[in-house]
Amino acid sequence: MKEERLDKFLANAGVGSRKEVKDYLKQRRIRVNGEVVTRPESKVDPDQDEILLDGKSIRKAGKAYYWFHKPAGCITASRDDREQTVMDYFADAGEKDLFPVGRLDKDTEGLLLVTNDGELSHYLLSPRRHVEKTYYAQVDGCIGEKEIALFREGVDIGDDKKTLPAVLKVVRSGENGSEILLTIQEGRYHQVKRMFEAVNRHVNYLKRVSFGSIPLEKTLEKGTYRTLTDEELSILKEQTNCRKKGTKEP
Ligand code: URA
Repeated sequence: MKEERLDKFLANAGVGSRKEVKDYLKQRRIRVNGEVVTRPESKVDPDQDEILLDGKSIRKAGKAYYWFHKPAGCITASRDDREQTVMDYFADAGEKDLFPVGRLDKDTEGLLLVTNDGELSHYLLSPRRHVEKTYYAQVDGCIGEKEIALFREGVDIGDDKKTLPAVLKVVRSGENGSEILLTIQEGRYHQVKRMFEAVNRHVNYLKRVSFGSIPLEKTLEKGTYRTLTDEELSILKEQTNCRKKGTKEP
């Protein structure tokens, strides 16, 4: 947790000079985690606190947040000498220090967060925070009540511990294959594929359709990216579960 003075944070974020920031505070235009804050010396943790000016979220200086619709065929790495990486799609983005949050396999498609905010990334990936991700998959054979119950209990995929409870929904099931939606709370290596291997089913196609309750929108075409809205950033911070409420001013 890295706390700093509110006026310093606001000035560094480009909201205005220290003097202007002081005026905004006096005018009761700044809210921290839903509460009006007027003292310039109040402490905030910009990684966890939602800080608003006139209801608009203030981003940390120099920080960028993008949703990327990953196509199959590129690897989730910052750089690679031989393979195409997800970051090759960001060659024209303004920031040079971007990186993907977590990883999707080379053949997996779907929603990937790309940022240069190391702290937020750390919180989102922390196994303790249980940020949910939902995947759509096409798998071999029938999927039914037995698999739903097993996944709800947690599955042994060969690690020290079983997986945390996961929610499996069957979209379509038949002898020639099934389509499912699976929501998991962790991000273990090849987790979805290994969960299905544990019940003798092979994943033929995998796509992440939501991250931390934010869905992959239909208009975000494969291989393209867009900036997160203030609301989406706020939701992600909330889902890291670490915002403190009502502690800023007596
Ligand atoms: N689980 C997998 O098996 N692969 C991915 O790419 C993501 C989750």
